[in-house]
Amino acid sequence: MDTRSELQVTINAMVQPGKGLLAADESGPTIAKRFKTIGLESTEENRRAYRNLLLTTPGLGEFVSGVILYEETLRQKADDGTPFPQAAAANGVVPGIKVDLGKVPLALAPGDEITEGLDGLAKRFVDYKRLGARFAKWRAVYNITASLPSRLAIEANADSLARYAAISQEAGIVPIVEPEVLMDGDHTIERCAEVTEAVLHEVFHALHRHRVVLEHILLKPSMVLPGSEHQQQSSTAHIAAATVRVLKRTVPAAVPGLVFLSGGQSPEEATVNLNAMNRLGALPWNLSFSYGRALQEPPLQAWRGQPGNVKEAQQALLKRARLNGAAALGKYEAAMEKD
Ligand code: 13P
Repeated sequence: MDTRSELQVTINAMVQPGKGLLAADESGPTIAKRFKTIGLESTEENRRAYRNLLLTTPGLGEFVSGVILYEETLRQKADDGTPFPQAAAANGVVPGIKVDLGKVPLALAPGDEITEGLDGLAKRFVDYKRLGARFAKWRAVYNITASLPSRLAIEANADSLARYAAISQEAGIVPIVEPEVLMDGDHTIERCAEVTEAVLHEVFHALHRHRVVLEHILLKPSMVLPGSEHQQQSSTAHIAAATVRVLKRTVPAAVPGLVFLSGGQSPEEATVNLNAMNRLGALPWNLSFSYGRALQEPPLQAWRGQPGNVKEAQQALLKRARLNGAAALGKYEAAMEKD
């Protein structure tokens, strides 16, 4: 199969009505932080056992079309000896991999950050593909203050995201482009909208410059929200309208799917907000989820590292996946939380 057809087949498998993605690509330090909340040490075997629980959840593929893995997980095996990428595929879930190497301070730009990992990426893709990965993810982060992010950070991160996306497509790997405008801070929702609009404009200019085929990417945006320390909360209707307004202004209709990150929202908030956006009327793209914390918090708390809790944890994951699947269709109701 030529590269274009290969990318299209993967897009078709990933972008399906009522389905979204599970982000399970926590790096070493991040998964250690999550395990700490349940008093569990982050050993290689504990990480494997946890990812086994998630990926072998019966019925997951009904609501989850893809899973983002961390490199270590790509090389690990499920309880029955099946390599995780194949175990996910057998469950109806396309396996993908986080390929960025994390963020560092952006030189000469105090407070701004830049994501690393471009050097050698084309070579790494050969290995990831052999292991079964069909899509990739790269996350850029933007901190909001009165003066940040700087123009420099917006341009430098857009360029890295676009170079990554081009390298992915050339390898026959669908790139998920993730520009995350962080919730941290006391800024207003209007300030978040202003920053998100500037960030997305620049990202799409850079994608064009780097010859990235928009039909063969997924965008993983953050929602437009007030800062987590802002005094006033915003209504769901306000958040949904502000987010969709910014996306309509910046994201070409050629992009097949948008999958939100949860970014520190509670599981219910993330579901309610996605649902509200999908009730706003016809949108040019499929609008769904690629949640990490908002899908994993309930199963992680149910599991607590105990083999005896695996079934209950899988039920907790399946429930959140089902509710978010409904929200991706605009068919979620609060009463469904009690089922
Ligand atoms: P959260 O949904 O927890 O923000 O994680 C999604 C993700 O992949 C962040 O890079």
